[in-house]
Amino acid sequence: MSSVRRVMVRTYGCQMNVHDSEKITNLLQHHGYQPTDELEDADLLIINTCSIREKAENQLYSDVGRLRAWKQQRPGRLLAVAGCVAQQAGDAVLKRFGHVDFVFGTHNLRLVPSMAAAALQGERQTRIDETGSLDRFDLPERHPEFETLTPGRAFVTVMEGCDMFCSFCIVPTTRGREISRPASDIISEVEALAARGVREVTLLGQTVNAYGRHDLRRKEARKARGAVRDEAETVAFAELLGRIDAIPGIERIRYKSPHPIFFDEALIRAHGELRSLCPHVHLPLQSGSDTVLKRMRRRYGQAEFLALVEALRAARPDIAISTDLIVGFPGETDADFRDTLSVMRRAAFVDSYAFKYSPRPGTAAADFADIVPGEVAQARLEQLQNLQRELTLTAHRARVGETTQVLVEGASRRGGRQLSGRDPYQRVVNFEVSDAALAAPGSLQSVKLLEATPHSLIGLLAVEAPDHGPGRELRRSVKTVGGSADELIRIGGVPN
Ligand code: SAH
Ligand code: SF4
Ligand code: F3S
Repeated sequence: MSSVRRVMVRTYGCQMNVHDSEKITNLLQHHGYQPTDELEDADLLIINTCSIREKAENQLYSDVGRLRAWKQQRPGRLLAVAGCVAQQAGDAVLKRFGHVDFVFGTHNLRLVPSMAAAALQGERQTRIDETGSLDRFDLPERHPEFETLTPGRAFVTVMEGCDMFCSFCIVPTTRGREISRPASDIISEVEALAARGVREVTLLGQTVNAYGRHDLRRKEARKARGAVRDEAETVAFAELLGRIDAIPGIERIRYKSPHPIFFDEALIRAHGELRSLCPHVHLPLQSGSDTVLKRMRRRYGQAEFLALVEALRAARPDIAISTDLIVGFPGETDADFRDTLSVMRRAAFVDSYAFKYSPRPGTAAADFADIVPGEVAQARLEQLQNLQRELTLTAHRARVGETTQVLVEGASRRGGRQLSGRDPYQRVVNFEVSDAALAAPGSLQSVKLLEATPHSLIGLLAVEAPDHGPGRELRRSVKTVGGSADELIRIGGVPN
């Protein structure tokens, strides 16, 4: 047995959780661990959990149950549970499963190395303290050997937590109160990423465009009182985007998940003005019915949502909008559901993630009457998915013939010699290439779109050998605005 300890992190849930897993892996690398994807090789397995729906939570319990034998196979193996279920269930996980060594919550990532060391001494502990401080962001930079699963791309946390308390949602409990990182820390992180060849950053937060709102409000109040303390720390979200846009090497900016009520004029305008802000917004609608939206406590109605879609399209006519939808929310009638279908058509969503409502303990909606029978919710889900397939296909077909810029992710799931990546609109593009070395993961390629399916666009490399991926050099080169060949704009053009 080698003396190096190996860690495997198994991740469920949203991109926040995926990024937390990266942070955990990176932190442990700084403490001598090496990452592995093989359960057999792992000395420490961390399950990073999600509790957004009941199914996700149950998955954890069956997973942990099955790991008893794995844990017993080799002395010194450790099993830990992290993430949103851990935050919620806390000590109950240790009590229920004797073979779990430690549990840590969403605010306690930085304690992992010390908890793992203590666990090796036989100490079983749970740390789910919620801190209101910025300590949780105090994590080391990327370890020199940290190998990202996403070459050329990176997630960057800008805020965490949620103060919205939508009646169906567990996130305010599992992620705690909203807290925003200082803008200067975010900028430094993005600069460091760009220096390592990252071209696309996705800014993350549960309500990412609420970034800085509490600090800015407090600052205004202080100013009104005549206090002069200088606080540079957070800025409005649109301004943060503008500062990141100015960082050399960054060619694409995305953000997730925004809440419709936090789009101000500056943010809408940014979509028409910032060179690297991608023409895609994930804009969760949840329901198209005013009655349901009210019971969900979403704080907007159908009209406001559609007005926002229109404003975004006015600022950026080719913008692609995707969404999240819930069917079978308590009290949802056929007429309510038809409203959802109608808004889907009017907003022309390019994609949607639709879920059957799942009651979550402790949320307001868990006590709502008028439960929608399972088979009704299932039928609505299918109807909604059929409509979405049509909408996606229509959007994809309209793009055949265009040349778009694809950030290569790797081999296509379709097999063969096809590679796969995402275009500025966040659509999956699969394309043929004569030699895979011509289009390394993390490189940006011009792809001519030839065919549309409901899942992806299919194309051909338009120009071979333009780019060997990150790490070789930082280039300012070609930016796509609008994604079509005619709209390619050369910015700078000065070779590095
Ligand atoms: N912050 C984002 C959503 C994060 S949760 C927003 O405000 O939109 C991701 C998605 O999970 C939600 O958009 C919602 O569609 C879904 N979801 C959340 N709670 C759910 C529940 N109890 N049942 C079914 N789907 C749920
Ligand atoms: Fe959940 Fe609503 Fe917060 Fe989104 S805004 S994370 S749906 S409570
Ligand atoms: Fe799940 Fe937590 Fe994300 S509940 S969706 S992992 S914030």
